[in-house]
Amino acid sequence: MKEKLEKIKQDAIAQIEKSDALEALNEVRVNFLGKKGELTAVLKSMKDVAPEDRPKVGQFVNETRAEIERILDEATKKMEKLKRESQMKNEVIDVTLPAKKNMVGHRHPNVTTQEEVERIFIGMGYEVVEGPEIETDYYNFEALNIPADHPAKDEQDTFYINGDFLLRTQTSGTQVHVMEKGKLPIRMIAPGRVFRSDEVDATHSPSFHQIEGLVIDKHITFADLKGTLAEFSKELFGEDTKVRFRPHHFNFTEPSAEMDISCFKCGGKGCRFCKGTGWIEILGCGLVHPNVLRMSGIDPEEYSGFAFGIGLERIALLKYEIDDMRLLYENDVRFLKQF
Ligand code: DAH
Repeated sequence: MKEKLEKIKQDAIAQIEKSDALEALNEVRVNFLGKKGELTAVLKSMKDVAPEDRPKVGQFVNETRAEIERILDEATKKMEKLKRESQMKNEVIDVTLPAKKNMVGHRHPNVTTQEEVERIFIGMGYEVVEGPEIETDYYNFEALNIPADHPAKDEQDTFYINGDFLLRTQTSGTQVHVMEKGKLPIRMIAPGRVFRSDEVDATHSPSFHQIEGLVIDKHITFADLKGTLAEFSKELFGEDTKVRFRPHHFNFTEPSAEMDISCFKCGGKGCRFCKGTGWIEILGCGLVHPNVLRMSGIDPEEYSGFAFGIGLERIALLKYEIDDMRLLYENDVRFLKQF
């Protein structure tokens, strides 16, 4: 029996020495120490050993088992160490390599322009407010002195949701929301998205942005309107910018005007940019119509005001010299990165 155990031990050692991987060592463990292993088989055959010899044989078996285990553990530890070392050698991380850059997109010219306009008006004491994009007919038209049969309500222009609700065609309705609150005086701008059923081309889109302006106080005159918008234009387009007002018609203002700025490209001499006129149209404006004030609960005998509406895209296209509005909506980063 002793020789048999000694042979098992020598076999195990030989196999351990031959092993070149952790898997092979594990196989040796199973073969010799496992449930169906050789040492277990010896233990099972104890019943054939004379009872008085059993303790001695049992001791031999345990000693052999402990010895094989010790050698196996040692070999396993060595093998693990070798494996780690070769891993360390192969998986070198070069910390000097440039890191992968995060793509974070880019600010949109519309946003930059809107913030610039907001900054100028906030500097003049204006509040920035937001109105709803879904409006009722009342706020978008009626309260702005646009009666039921007015062409501005044409269904070809307006996206109706149903008989009562529509997508606002202008930010002017926000004037009404603010006036209805009844807090006077008012000095606000309201930037936001508007919608019209227009075909897409270089200067049109079914969805674009406006910045509405409204001032209501005692003794507001057209001079206040001119002074404010002249100052705004200088801040946005440069100190030398001149403005001119041309008579126009809007239902919610009386008198109404369109405002041009002197061409910031040629300084007013006339160039391709201003189509040779020296002037560029940038907004509509006027003194708030007494009907509009009255409908929103403001007494036109006591208060007066001015309003204006700026096309945000138009300003962005001018400021950044972009010649096609569609580029603003494609959101191609290669385009956006240029501004
Ligand atoms: N709402 C007008 C439009 O969409 C722009 C406008 C003109 C707004 C005159 C105003 C204004 O507040 O006084 O064409």
